Amino acid sequence: MTEYLNETVFTWGATPLKFGAGAVDEIGWDLAKLGAQRVLIITDPGVAATGLPSRVADAAKAGGLTVDIFDRVHVEPTDDSIRDAIAYAGESTWDGFIGVGGGSAIDTAKAVNLYTTHPADLYDYVNKPIGEGLAPPAPLKPLVAVPTTAGTGSETTPVCVMDFLELQVKSGISHPYLRPDLAVIDPLLTLSMPPEVTAASGMDVLCHALESYTARPFHSFARHTPETRVAYNGSNPISDAWTEQALTLLARSFRKAVLNGGDLEARTDMMLAATFAGMGFGNAGVHIPHACAYPIAGRVREYRPGNYPQDVALVPHGESVSLTAPAAFRFTFPTDPGKHLHAADILDPRGADTTRDERERLPQVLTSLMRDIGIPNGLSGVGYTAHDVRPLVEGTMQQQRLLAVTPRTATEEDIEAVLTESLENW
Ligand SMILES: NC(=O)c1ccc[n+]([C@@H]2O[C@H](COP(=O)([O-])OP(=O)(O)OC[C@H]3O[C@@H](n4cnc5c(N)ncnc54)[C@H](O)[C@@H]3O)[C@@H](O)[C@H]2O)c1
Repeated sequence: MTEYLNETVFTWGATPLKFGAGAVDEIGWDLAKLGAQRVLIITDPGVAATGLPSRVADAAKAGGLTVDIFDRVHVEPTDDSIRDAIAYAGESTWDGFIGVGGGSAIDTAKAVNLYTTHPADLYDYVNKPIGEGLAPPAPLKPLVAVPTTAGTGSETTPVCVMDFLELQVKSGISHPYLRPDLAVIDPLLTLSMPPEVTAASGMDVLCHALESYTARPFHSFARHTPETRVAYNGSNPISDAWTEQALTLLARSFRKAVLNGGDLEARTDMMLAATFAGMGFGNAGVHIPHACAYPIAGRVREYRPGNYPQDVALVPHGESVSLTAPAAFRFTFPTDPGKHLHAADILDPRGADTTRDERERLPQVLTSLMRDIGIPNGLSGVGYTAHDVRPLVEGTMQQQRLLAVTPRTATEEDIEAVLTESLENW
């Protein structure tokens, strides 16, 4: 066998999907094909209030299935809320699950599927260093993901994220078995999404696309064996193609979807963008903005964004990733100026946001968009001060799985500089 020092191979996986207006009405047929007869729908109270999960249940029942709905998912799931969902599901026997909602509901459905199929202590499958990082022993039951936000791409990823309340840190589980068996992506389900959720979840899509596009290239890693090759390969020609398409759709429709939620064409573009970006980052990986987002969300004190549940303080995932994005792309610019400038050109094709300093072009395009759609102004906008930077650095440095695909080594000092620059973005 030829000996290579550097990686020459990348992998690319995706969930089979059904896309389009009305796609969800066929879910009974799809579930029966997957061999599921008794299914549990997993959703959160806000999504339940829109009536969408009942509509999915009716469509599944029309296919002859027995269906129940669990609607207590916590928005931004916590270890406690995941345990609650697992306990509920464990009271009966299910042969399939449907996650209906944003990333919170779909991630909870992934965890419920994992822990009811292969029971274990919650920490057993959680990524190191928070958990034991054990691999599930065998594949799981059928899981269908029905996203109602255009955001996380959780419907196509092998990842589930949760907040460990006492540790004040977000972490997750990452294994190919977690990837849903089918994503039913119906843009009509996003028409009821409030502007704040549209803005935050759309920024998640944008950061997925930009981070995976600028990630460390797969061929710069040391050669893996088939057993050690990780899900996050680094940027590669296939993920680049998907992320460029996602950026084009975002340029056309992101502002429109926030300003006029009833614009079905814009909503369809956003759903496609989320799917394409998911296909990119789910294989290439994400880096600094996502690594910083975990402690930014985990250490929140008082911030309560409009149109999110008001019972607890939270920084929505999409906001937490976008707050450091301008500074992060300023930091990564020297690794591949061409890609950073190309991304800025796709997002701002008329060059409305022009600057003579090439390094500032992408940060400027981002801050202009964030201002227009109502994203808070940097870390200070969600209640952090300069005193918080040190603990945020420590939390970020724990996310080595993500930092590994940063295109240049990010030391503690570098992350401190990114977070300090991000206290105010404009
Ligand atoms: N698994 C992954 O690959 C992955 C990737 C990124 C983020 N995440 C996780 O996903 C979560 C965030 O998910 P999200 O941004 O999709 O939002 P979300 O699921 O947290 O939902 C946000 C809010 O929007 C409401 N909502 C959702 N869809 C709606 C609709 N159509 N109409 C009316 N209200 C609606 C919900 O009730 C909730 O109040 C975080 O926990 C994050 O860590 C997971």
